[in-house]
Amino acid sequence: MSEPAEGEPILEVRDLTKYYPLTQGILFKKQVGAVKAVDGVSFDLRKGETLGIVGESGCGKSTVAKMLVNLEHPTSGTIRYKGEDISHLSPRALKSVRRNIQMVFQDPYTSLNPRMTVGDIIGEPFDIHPEVAPKGSRRGKVRELLDVVGLNPEYINRYPHQFSGGQRQRIGIARGLALKPEVIVADEPVSALDVSVQAQVINLMERLQDEFGLSYAFIAHDLSIVRHISDRVAVMYLGKIVELGSDEEIYEHATHPYTQALLSAVPVPDPTAREEAARIILQGDVPSPANPPSGCTFRTRCWKAQPRCAQEVPLLIVPPHLEKYGPPVAHPSACFFAEELNAGTP
Ligand SMILES: Nc1ncnc2c1ncn2[C@@H]1O[C@H](COP(=O)(O)OP(=O)(O)OP(=O)(O)O)[C@@H](O)[C@H]1O
Ligand code: SF4
Ligand SMILES: [Mg+2]
Repeated sequence: MSEPAEGEPILEVRDLTKYYPLTQGILFKKQVGAVKAVDGVSFDLRKGETLGIVGESGCGKSTVAKMLVNLEHPTSGTIRYKGEDISHLSPRALKSVRRNIQMVFQDPYTSLNPRMTVGDIIGEPFDIHPEVAPKGSRRGKVRELLDVVGLNPEYINRYPHQFSGGQRQRIGIARGLALKPEVIVADEPVSALDVSVQAQVINLMERLQDEFGLSYAFIAHDLSIVRHISDRVAVMYLGKIVELGSDEEIYEHATHPYTQALLSAVPVPDPTAREEAARIILQGDVPSPANPPSGCTFRTRCWKAQPRCAQEVPLLIVPPHLEKYGPPVAHPSACFFAEELNAGTP
């Protein structure tokens, strides 16, 4: 396994799907359909970068996260870590790979066991990987980790309820760092926190990224949360990535109607700019992933939809009619009529 250089892919995800069977009957369960939670997702996570993964509730973000850390098994597709397919490894080989890909969870209030001390919570990964911290050294390592995430090492014997939400998320991050991973999959790590605390936790994560050379898959339902931290952003809708690009491509030159709608929902700090920016209000709810619309799954809420959108599935490619403009306008966008907003033609 060769070491990827900075900027080279550390994770390569290809055509990943997760279908949950829908069953009927109590005694004799019969499959009557499937929830297409993730439906053909491909992206790279490059060494040292932060990839933001954004989309409304139910679009499959957590399911992608769980497959990356092997809490869920893909229905099909592959996840390669440093070139090796980890979606089909033996349990033993998997154990050593899993060490390198850790998860930080959404809700600091429920993801920490209330009956364990902070020292035991942060040190728990050492039970599975004793080679990282031999028995006698564990408390010292946990104290170091508390210090690294900005908590007083003297708090080692306290319980989760004795901390604030922001502090608990720091505990979750310390636990995620315990095994010295290379990749952290953070599933809405700040969504449950107050806005002022969100910034502190994001700053901490950025500092840790620089210090330890981490790669982040950073999940959020709101484009504004990941703006500051992301190098690239993937926008998901109903189990698929609909637009993928650098922060400049997504925030300044979005071409997919769904991304444009999400961006127009983001508050603009400058009041004069706010008046000028036309708001796009998304009509209706996200359709059920058990019965997604034909063709482009966004078409039931898209103000630009044409008959073609019901018949063909748009692929996540650089739209051919935008190729001539080059980046940042030309970047992958799964829309037949992709164009910059208010641009007429870019
Ligand atoms: N174990 C499961 N069995 C059946 N359906 C599931 C299961 N887990 C998730 N789903 C469905 O898969 C879809 C994607 O769920 P997922 O949790 O990945 O969404 P999400 O983008 O993380 O949403 P949120 O922003 O609310 O966390 C949803 O429709 C959900 O109901
Ligand atoms: S392909 Fe059609 S329905 Fe889908 S986003 Fe583009 S214009 Fe809208
Ligand atoms: Mg989720």
